[in-house]
Amino acid sequence: MKIKSVNLDQVAGFSSQFPNDNFEEIAFAGRSNVGKSSFINSFLDKKNLAKTSSKPGKTKTINFYKINDKFRLVDLPGYGYAKVSKKEKEKWNNLIHQYLYQRENLKEVFLLVDIRHAPTKQDKEMYDWIIDSGFTGFVIATKYDKIPKTHLKKHIKEIMKTLNIDDEGLIFAYSSTTSHNKNVLLEQVEVIINS
Ligand code: GTP
Ligand code: MG
Repeated sequence: MKIKSVNLDQVAGFSSQFPNDNFEEIAFAGRSNVGKSSFINSFLDKKNLAKTSSKPGKTKTINFYKINDKFRLVDLPGYGYAKVSKKEKEKWNNLIHQYLYQRENLKEVFLLVDIRHAPTKQDKEMYDWIIDSGFTGFVIATKYDKIPKTHLKKHIKEIMKTLNIDDEGLIFAYSSTTSHNKNVLLEQVEVIINS
């Protein structure tokens, strides 16, 4: 698939602001700071489209990007960031839940995990929910540039074990700095959208 156009359709702080139409959506979930927004920028070849930060808790809204006037990629706020108030945490979690649980447009969810660390309890809960909800269970293992290539197998095995994944083909090692595996994922997204 070729990315021909990218448009920020909507920035939603409330579920009432979710776009009201039938475009299919692919969403990217994962804990704060894992690299969701960086992934979207790298995947779409747009440096500063989605705002990123070295500090967790950057994305506070659900951001809807229309691709090729055909479907959307959706950047979600992260979970698991301890340093925000309970009230704010609840607001983000509610927003994420309202999106994931109720969104009819949602065609597929990718879970992003940091390739360097074993997935957390919250990652496991999110992954179980993704599987129980009938999604395929694709995982993007981010920050691949931060490990030696010779350690790849070990890290992938750890992710598979923690999330209880049998099929290694569901996991894509990715680097937003080198765009490693971008073409493979572009093909995967095309398959999802055309299925
Ligand atoms: P929230 O919006 O807080 O949920 O975070 P996020 O998941 O959107 O993370 P974001 O894309 O803002 O990235 C967090 C930090 O990780 C930033 O400093 C990025 O530059 C860095 N980062 C993300 N992906 C990669 C990667 O593939 N390689 C390297 N080296 N750094 C990355
Ligand atoms: Mg973000």
